[in-house]
Amino acid sequence: MVYFIPKLIEHNNNTLFKIEKKLNMDANIINDLFKGKQSQTPLWFLRQAGRHIPEYYEIRKKEYNFIDFCLNKNLIIESTKLPLKYYNLDAAIIFSDILMIPWAMRRNLRFLKDFGPTLDPMIPGETKIVKNASIVSKLEPLKDSISTLRNDLPKSISLIGFAGAPWTLACYMIEGKGSKDFLKTRKALWCENKWFMELIETLIYYISDKLEMQAKAGVDVLMIFDSWSHMIPNNFFTECAINPISRIIRILRSRDIFVPIIGFPFKAGSSIIKYSFESEVDCVALDWSVDLSWADSFINKDIVIQGNLDPASLIPKDSVYLKDNVLSILDKMSDRRFIFNVGHGLTPDCKIDNVKKVIDIVKNYKR
Ligand code: CP3
Repeated sequence: MVYFIPKLIEHNNNTLFKIEKKLNMDANIINDLFKGKQSQTPLWFLRQAGRHIPEYYEIRKKEYNFIDFCLNKNLIIESTKLPLKYYNLDAAIIFSDILMIPWAMRRNLRFLKDFGPTLDPMIPGETKIVKNASIVSKLEPLKDSISTLRNDLPKSISLIGFAGAPWTLACYMIEGKGSKDFLKTRKALWCENKWFMELIETLIYYISDKLEMQAKAGVDVLMIFDSWSHMIPNNFFTECAINPISRIIRILRSRDIFVPIIGFPFKAGSSIIKYSFESEVDCVALDWSVDLSWADSFINKDIVIQGNLDPASLIPKDSVYLKDNVLSILDKMSDRRFIFNVGHGLTPDCKIDNVKKVIDIVKNYKR
C-alpha cells in the first residue's frame, strides 16, 4: 500500500497524516501521553518483573547474591523482559534496586533471606558521608543493559528507569533496615539536622547522576520512588520530599535530560496535593489509599496521574470485586491524562490470571 502515499502528498496532507500513523509501528502511547495526547489508557505494573512469575526464580537462581544479580547485564535484561512474555504491557521497568546507591556508597548492603535489605546503620552526626562514590561507573552493567534493551524492545514499549528518593534512601541508611516508624531517622532530622540535610544534599547529586546515566543510555521515562514519604513529619515535608525532587529535576534539565519524570510519594496523604504542584514532576503516582475523586479535584491538572489499584486485589483466585474496581478507577480518571498501574508493587502471591484479566479490561475500555 506504500505506493499510495506520493499521490496523497499531492492531494491531501491530512489523509497522509492518518495513513502514516496507521503504518507507524513505532507509536508509543506513554510518550504520546506525556506530549499531551491520550487516545488509550497505557498500563504497566509496579514490581511487574518480580516474584509472582514462577520463571523469575529460575532466572534468580543464576546468581546467589541479589546485588550480583543487579550487576549482571544478561540477567537484568532477562528479568526486565520477563513480564512482557506474559502480558500485553505498554512499559518495561529496568530490573535493579533503589538500594544500589547506598551499596555504591559502601554501606555494606546485604539482602537476607526472609528479612529484606540490611545495611550498616549510619550514626547521625558521626558517620562520614561518602562524597566520591562514583555511582555511574559502579553501575556500568545497568547502563549497558538499558542500551541493549532499548535496541531490542519494540519502540511501542516505554523503558522506565528509576531511583529511590533522597528521604527513602536516607531512611534505609540510618535505620540499616526497614522500620515501622523510622524513629532513628526522624530523630536525626530533629537532633542532627545539619548532618541530615548534608546526607540529603549528597543523595540529590548521586540520584541525579544515576537518573542521568539511565536517560542517556536510552530510557524513555524516569520514576522516583519515595516509599517512606509517609514517615516525614508534616512540617518537614517540603524540605525533605518536595524540594529534593525539584532539585533533582532541575539538575537533570540543566544536563539536557528532558524525559518525563514520575514521582511516587507513597502514602503521603493530603501532602500529595502540594507535591503535585511544587515538585515539578510530570506525573504523580498514587498509592492504593488515595480516593481518585479527591485526586481529580485537587491534584495539579497539568500533570499525568498514575495508579492505583490495590495489588492485594490481585491475590484472590476468583475475585468478584476485581472488574468493578478496575472500571471504577478508569471511570474516575476518564477526564485526566492517566496511566493505569497498581498503587504499590505486585506481591509474590499475585495471580497471573488476575493480571491478565485487568489488562483485558483496561485495553477494552473506551475513554
Ligand atoms: O519489577 C520491578 O519493579 C523492577 C525491579 C525493582 C526491584 N526493587 C527489584 C527487587 C524495583 C523498581 C525496586 C524498587 C524498590 N526496592 C523499592 C521502591 C518500591 C517499593 O516497593 O516501595 C524499595 C523500597 C526497595 C527496597 C527493597 N529491595 C526491599 C524492601 C526488598 C526486599 C523485600 C521486597 O519487597 O522484595 C528488596 C529486594 C528486591 N528488589 C527484590 C526484587 C525483585 C526481591 C529480592 C529477590 O528476589 O531475591
